[in-house]
Amino acid sequence: MLETEIEYNNLLSKLGRTLRPNAIRKLTQMLGRSDIISLAAGAPSAETFPLEEMAEIASRVIRERGAVALQYGPSRGLGKLVEAVTDIMRARGVDRARPAEVVMTTGSQQGLDLAARVILDPGDVAMVELPSYIGGIIALHNAQAEMVGVRQDDGGIDITDLREKIDRARQEGRRVKCIYTIPNFQNPSGVSLAADRRQQLIEVADQHNLLIIEDDPYYELYFASQSRLPAPLVAIKPSRVIYLSSFSKVLAPGIRTAWVHAPEPLASKIEIAKEGADLSSSMLDQAIVAEALSTGLIARRLPDIREFYEARCRAMLDALEKGAPKDARWTRPAGGFFIFLELGADVDAADRLPAAIESGVAYVPGQPFFVDDAGKNTLRLAYSKETPERIAEGIARLCRLL
Ligand SMILES: Cc1ncc(COP(=O)(O)O)c(C=O)c1O
Repeated sequence: MLETEIEYNNLLSKLGRTLRPNAIRKLTQMLGRSDIISLAAGAPSAETFPLEEMAEIASRVIRERGAVALQYGPSRGLGKLVEAVTDIMRARGVDRARPAEVVMTTGSQQGLDLAARVILDPGDVAMVELPSYIGGIIALHNAQAEMVGVRQDDGGIDITDLREKIDRARQEGRRVKCIYTIPNFQNPSGVSLAADRRQQLIEVADQHNLLIIEDDPYYELYFASQSRLPAPLVAIKPSRVIYLSSFSKVLAPGIRTAWVHAPEPLASKIEIAKEGADLSSSMLDQAIVAEALSTGLIARRLPDIREFYEARCRAMLDALEKGAPKDARWTRPAGGFFIFLELGADVDAADRLPAAIESGVAYVPGQPFFVDDAGKNTLRLAYSKETPERIAEGIARLCRLL
């Protein structure tokens, strides 16, 4: 039979039928044109990749340890890297972190996918910030979870709203299982969770016997002029938290190396789920990261990276200050890659995008970040990719349009 004669839809799973392209990836594919200033792509700047050092490390790793680096490896991850990540977790405040609680993953994205599949049955409820990271929403969707959105303000997730929404879901007979949160320099909003709310979030999880999925890829990316944020949730109560972090933003996302730290029984399940997904993450990538850690390459570059992104954020904030419409409001991040802009209630950011692209600037309309379909009048601006000069020009163009 020819492909055109087969009705593939009938052969798909229920999940397969509901899969839709990720709004941002679709958009960034359209943005190949170099004349477009892209405030859409949330990727690290390639200028921060240590090309020479990585080339040297990669060739050394292959020459000296190729038998391990080019071989299949343990699903948990390369032993040396698991040990190094355990040290990182201790430095982040988990005093008693152990290698048995760590699983290396192919990006945090895989960690989100595996964590969701291990803890959620179809129909289980996951509490999600409004707005939240699209990749996290996709992972929860793929586990067929129902997502309930919780308000956020400049101090992060609103604890009162969280309590109310959990109570309501329970009263409706639904099973609430977890809270998905990005407490540091959130993607897409740029806001961070206030210290007192970190404590309260743990209390809510304890009270309702929930797990917290703490997604923390931007932990190290606080700005040079700022201080480190309060301890992550996992440091307050490791037994309640599946914690994810990544080398994507501090080294390079192309090496797809990240980790999950979870209570041992959950880490074991995630490890088994990972075996079915990819047997193990790339040993070569992990060996390179292990070397980049042990030679101090990553730590050495962090101060420059923090300055690099702060200058870009400053350029964006200054340009917004100068030109944004009177009724617009925006976040003022202390780290990370993103500013979130809220326009007048009657403005539809998706409708305005074609005109923006026409005038040579792109952003991501905010609605796909909201699991309750709100946020039509919002948009995400990333300052990670473009130079400060192009950011200023891009925001000026955008402001003229708005
Ligand atoms: C909040 C959040 N979580 C996870 C990821 C995925 O990171 P990784 O490259 O480690 O898969 C990203 C990437 O942008 C992110 O912003």
